[in-house]
Amino acid sequence: MRSLIDILDLSVEELNDLLKTACDIMKRPKKYAKKCKGKKLATLFFEPSTRTRLSFEAAMLELGGSVIGFSDADSSSAAKGESVADTAKIISCYADIIAMRHPKEGAPFAASLSAGIPVINAGDGGHCHPTQTLADLLTIYREKGTLEGLTVGFCGDLKYGRTVHSLIAALSRYHGIRVVLISPSELRLPDYVKYEYMENMSYTETESLDEALGELDILYMTRIQRERFDDPEEYERLKDSYVLTTEKMAKAPQTMCVLHPLPRVNEISVQVDDDPRACYFEQALNGKYMRMALILKLLSEADGKRESVTTAAEDLVCKNPRCITAVEQEPRQLFRCVDTEKQVYRCMYCEGRVKR
Ligand code: NCD
Repeated sequence: MRSLIDILDLSVEELNDLLKTACDIMKRPKKYAKKCKGKKLATLFFEPSTRTRLSFEAAMLELGGSVIGFSDADSSSAAKGESVADTAKIISCYADIIAMRHPKEGAPFAASLSAGIPVINAGDGGHCHPTQTLADLLTIYREKGTLEGLTVGFCGDLKYGRTVHSLIAALSRYHGIRVVLISPSELRLPDYVKYEYMENMSYTETESLDEALGELDILYMTRIQRERFDDPEEYERLKDSYVLTTEKMAKAPQTMCVLHPLPRVNEISVQVDDDPRACYFEQALNGKYMRMALILKLLSEADGKRESVTTAAEDLVCKNPRCITAVEQEPRQLFRCVDTEKQVYRCMYCEGRVKR
């Protein structure tokens, strides 16, 4: 069963096809209005969401399908201790496709292993968020006419910002991308993202947004992810690290586009919204079209396969406390060997590294 757990589950050709389909849906919505008649999407949101859940729901309704689900873990059987694997098994009896958001890293992957229907990762903890990446790619493509040869600055919480991790992974598939990582040292991009996706990408790291601004084609602002901090005082100290103001925009290139997955707190001042370079509201709309394209694709090829498990290292245990395997007994420990010489393994749920 084909699911979308990680953005790299899609080849670059598939990404480009989704972009094409989304553009066609935008132009000719009537052609798609009944494509999912009789089909049901289940939105299983164990963590708060506005855009992602409602845009999934709007996407399915605009395809002529219907929607069931919940938007709060307390109103599901998770509150009684049910595992995500069991929930996914049950929902497979009622729906044709699942969109799942969960605070634990790897939970949608765990669900996909037991679901009989496609599972879409709608955000798993601080790990990844592939459908936001689809919205980001369409926005960049529509604004710049290409996904190649761009300098992209990521600013804010690069540690916990799952949308950043997934977009960097996707951009690693395109030629000539330069990345500028702008964050306080405490919130730098996790090493696994650098090792996995940025080996062939040119990138620099800085704490200064002012210094980076002048060279950017895209500025991807992010919210400091309060809910992922173990120490509330650290959040208080870092929460105002960056604020994009009209004064800063005056120093940025005239052709630079500002993206933000939203919701914003204060990292983009509302005055910037009137600047024609502010693309974040279009980005939210683009998300709906890309989710429509994705639902169509997954439902039409409901028998494809995810990458098979290359190494099941049964003696290893993931040490990441944020991983779904840390809270539920059911998911089998699954690892992929990423360095045979040094015997380094990567958890297939959360990408945490373990050495044998
Ligand atoms: C993002 C998320 O949930 O990771 N929001 C979204 O889905 N558009 C970004 C965020 O919460 O900061």
